[in-house]
Amino acid sequence: MDVSFAIVTCSSTRSLEEDTAGQALEERIRESGWTPLSHVVVPDVRANIAAGIVEAAEREVDIVLTCGGTGLSLADVTPEATADVCERNVPGIAEAMRSESLKITGRAMLSRAVCMQRGKTLVINLPGSLKAATECFDAIRDQLEHAVQMTAGAGH
Ligand code: MTE
Repeated sequence: MDVSFAIVTCSSTRSLEEDTAGQALEERIRESGWTPLSHVVVPDVRANIAAGIVEAAEREVDIVLTCGGTGLSLADVTPEATADVCERNVPGIAEAMRSESLKITGRAMLSRAVCMQRGKTLVINLPGSLKAATECFDAIRDQLEHAVQMTAGAGH
């Protein structure tokens, strides 16, 4: 089945051309037979990140992947921006990313990434480096089609 994605990279320093993590996510989405519908870079500012998520959800994409801004610096506000515009927490996806990532690096515990639903759109925070973003995406990739089917109201 097709799954549509929007990538919202949260960075005040990276341009779209420099966003290798976002580009790698696009490639992985295509390799899986899914559709990356949009890819933007927004400044690391809570209101801008929230607006990027809302804009994607209004276009009814199935999944928004945010990339970056999940760490412990006070400038890292992606989880807060996500919570500002989403209704329901989906803790298992963030738990799975952290638990798989901890097998690779203890630094995985330093990501505050959340996964939440805004209406029927699933919003997944990924960390910002190419390595971290792709490792986290690979950890959850297998369950995304089923997640979208269940969101649409299908049974098991
Ligand atoms: N997760 C995986 N799988 N691999 C990594 O290398 N890096 C961690 C963590 N999660 C990492 C990871 C590090 S070093 C940080 S600081 C946090 O993600 C937050 O990253 P962010 O601020 O770019 O979102």
